[in-house]
Amino acid sequence: MKNIYSNIFKFNKNILHKTLKYLKKSNIVGLPTETVYGLAGNAYSKKAVEKIYSIKKRPKINPLIVHYYDLKNLSNDVEVNNNFLKLYKKLCPGPITFVMKKKKLSKICSVATANLNTVAIRFPSNPKIRKILSKLNFPLAIPSANKSKGISPINAFDVAEEFKNKVKIIIDDGNSKIGIESTVLDLTGRIKILRPGIINGKKISKILGKKVYFVKKQNKIKSPGALKKHYSPNIPMKLNQINASKNTAFIVFGKKYKKTTNTFNLSKKSDLNEAAKNLYKIFRKIKKYNYKKIYVVKIPNKGVGVAINDRLKHAAN
Ligand code: TXA
Ligand code: MG
Repeated sequence: MKNIYSNIFKFNKNILHKTLKYLKKSNIVGLPTETVYGLAGNAYSKKAVEKIYSIKKRPKINPLIVHYYDLKNLSNDVEVNNNFLKLYKKLCPGPITFVMKKKKLSKICSVATANLNTVAIRFPSNPKIRKILSKLNFPLAIPSANKSKGISPINAFDVAEEFKNKVKIIIDDGNSKIGIESTVLDLTGRIKILRPGIINGKKISKILGKKVYFVKKQNKIKSPGALKKHYSPNIPMKLNQINASKNTAFIVFGKKYKKTTNTFNLSKKSDLNEAAKNLYKIFRKIKKYNYKKIYVVKIPNKGVGVAINDRLKHAAN
């Protein structure tokens, strides 16, 4: 795609330097991660964190994920436990977020954690964001770079379109490898998946040698993203459909569906990883084409299909 945006930059020494300077001054930037693109600010700075909430129009009750380079400095902020260390060794850096107890003397801004006594932390694997994190002496609070409840961005152009020039620096790293958000895992009590992702319960359970629970309905705000309408193109959507009329966008999966103007195939070869990568791209396309209705076929509920179905359910809510 041609770069018509003056705030999208290829990653080089010069822009790295500028980005670091910017972040140190409590400004916010758009950054790539392996899951989706995020809006990043100094997690220790109230000013930076408030900017994130304000530009995203995010309710203050919904806490942010704090992103670290590695374990260094983590123990000042978070009560590290054994389950965490086991998972860290096998899965990090990577697309998984851990909810842990926040230390009383933690420097993480309480606005970022919505005044909870827990904090969600993640170690992204994208090399560009890792380079940035390695040069900072503070972690970054990074939600997905979309307005609250909307579709997560999977490339720099999505971010630029969402916020126009309100975000002065967006680092371009092509399309996100995974395309849906990280697995959110609660490690503060019984091991619970609060938001499914590409790393699934089976894998976590195998590493820990423990049962992993899946939180379906939540009474308290554990992961607000799991509560209400979210990840949504804001168009009426019906799931588990077998066909659709011409004026309805039809999201399908597998080779048995004929290619027509209103058909959007998540993966012709029935590959769930490919489907995850295409999901938000297709949501955006359908929105652009101004469809008023979306029908979706049944998606296999195994592997990353669980995460895809989770996002579809929220989008259809
Ligand atoms: O893949 C990702 O995780 C991306 C990239 C940019 O890292 N980030 C992302 O952030 O998806 P966000 O803010 O869009 O979603 C964070 C989720 C929300 O559902 C939030 O409620 C939950 O994590 N969360 C954050 N802190 C929490 C906490 N202390 N307890 C429970 N859930 C928490
Ligand atoms: Mg989000």
